[in-house]
Amino acid sequence: MKHKTLTGTLTFSHFAKMLLTPIKGAILLALLATTVPAHAHDKATGVVKQRMDGMGMLAGSMKAIAKQVKSPSPDPDAIAVAAQALRDHAGAAMLEGFPEGSIEAPSEARPEIWQDWERFSKLADRLTLQGEGLVLAAANPPSGETPATKTPHDLETYAALPVDELFMLTAKTCSACHQDYRLKK
Ligand code: HEC
Repeated sequence: MKHKTLTGTLTFSHFAKMLLTPIKGAILLALLATTVPAHAHDKATGVVKQRMDGMGMLAGSMKAIAKQVKSPSPDPDAIAVAAQALRDHAGAAMLEGFPEGSIEAPSEARPEIWQDWERFSKLADRLTLQGEGLVLAAANPPSGETPATKTPHDLETYAALPVDELFMLTAKTCSACHQDYRLKK
């Protein structure tokens, strides 16, 4: 929780000094107040919590890769490390987190997952392939272009793509699945 990080990184004297400066003190108190209510995720338990954590991991990997592909000099090692984590949390590992009917609160999973299990699995498996593809394409220079709409989904194609184009295709897999199988907020 942000609350812990905030107080954890401040010594007591820092904290006291901040409170002595009215403006900084007000900001600090406002920050503490807004970080106290728990996010829905904190209330999740069992398999729902596990898969939310896995999804959070994926978001972290995507953020790390985005940072690199947008950089004027992307670091292939940083991309490959994040892509490996992404690959390992997709496919079978992701599907294990969705036992039939597991939609208990605060889950945002939709019951359609189990009606369309084949398509849901296909998207999870595609993400594994794209993670592996990103490992292989990590050193490919970005093109600044959007990927062709009919890009075939196989490892050979992925490995030859500019890294930013494969990143965009990967982000599409996340949103395609969320679009159909995750409740809108
Ligand atoms: C095969 C389908 C599928 C794919 C692919 C997928 N997700 Fe998800 N994601 C879901 C579902 C379903 C939920 C809702 C889970 C729940 O609340 O029980 C979810 C929830 C999330 C959440 C919210 C977690 C929370 O704490 O509430 C994040 C963040 C997320 N996904 C990120 C990603 C990213 C980033 C990718 C791509 C790299 C991705 N997901 C790919 C199905 C998918």
